Amino acid sequence: MVAPGLEGTVEVHSYLGPGDERSLADDVLDGLTRPLKELPPKHLYDARGSELFDDICELPEYYQTRTERLILETNADAIVKRTSAVELVELGSGSATKTRVLLDAMDFAGTLRRYVPVDVSATTVHAVAERFTEEYPALQVHGVVGDFERHLGNLPAPAGPRLVPFLGGTIGNFPPGSRRRFLRSLAKVLGPDGHLLLGTDLVKDPLVIEAAYDDSAGVTAQFNLNVLHVLNRELGANFDVDAFEHVAFFDREREWIEMRLRATKPQHVRVEALDLEIDFANREELRTEISAKFTPERLEGDLRAAGLELVELYTDPQELFAVSLSRRA
Ligand SMILES: C[S@@+](CC[C@H](N)C(=O)[O-])C[C@H]1O[C@@H](n2cnc3c(N)ncnc32)[C@H](O)[C@@H]1O
Repeated sequence: MVAPGLEGTVEVHSYLGPGDERSLADDVLDGLTRPLKELPPKHLYDARGSELFDDICELPEYYQTRTERLILETNADAIVKRTSAVELVELGSGSATKTRVLLDAMDFAGTLRRYVPVDVSATTVHAVAERFTEEYPALQVHGVVGDFERHLGNLPAPAGPRLVPFLGGTIGNFPPGSRRRFLRSLAKVLGPDGHLLLGTDLVKDPLVIEAAYDDSAGVTAQFNLNVLHVLNRELGANFDVDAFEHVAFFDREREWIEMRLRATKPQHVRVEALDLEIDFANREELRTEISAKFTPERLEGDLRAAGLELVELYTDPQELFAVSLSRRA
């Protein structure tokens, strides 16, 4: 059942244009000329990268997706009751496979009005908008193709109490300082009566974590290497993708995973669009992602520093993953 008097509608707004090719160009110029070469993880998610990420979510080693889904299934009704949410504004929504659990709970409670998926991957936002419009005929879908670090000001005004899911452990991609800054920007998006629903991967046996980022089928390796195809295609670079290998390790001091690409021989690369020449020494590495793991204390500290207060922390019986509900303090 959907709130009475509302007709299902769908619209998708894109805030990625020529300026965002610049964002890739700027990130490449900035990141590949540093002493430790690096790129922000958002560039991993072109259409192919998004497909590969969906495949990763199905891998036996990748416990995160199925565990987070279990936590949501167990607690969705309580979350909806506690928040009285009428809309979901989902950041980094991807294929939104777990979102249905929340939409169903809102539908059942009779509060479901609007869904706002926000992602840099245009293909996934369009696919999700189409799918959910079919599955929830009275739902208003307002898709946003954009960068959640730059385009949160373009979100529609709240339609009522808002729930902002940020799932999949994506918050872990921010290093600690920018993580708190980003959480602070989310506090504004929540409004006075909104809640953040944040998925965070928990600190655990490093071997379990490392296996999740270096699966035996090699899908994560393909996902990581795909970013070089993105640079070749979008910026006219000439990376020899076969001359790089996937590396994933858990940094025990910082308690985060690093994904890197390692050159298997010395290489000279030209990035045509930037008129940039880059050298890689044999075994030199390019960092493509960090994924921070959390303790409940670290999570609460980050939330507090961002002006948020923890309302509820949901976890699974093995304490592999946590989903926290928080609101403005
Ligand atoms: C780890 S995946 C999680 C996907 C989904 N939420 C889940 O839980 O399975 C990260 C998602 O965030 C998106 N993303 C990464 N950086 C982004 C950014 N700066 N702005 C918007 N979306 C971003 C990616 O395209 C991808 O869909």
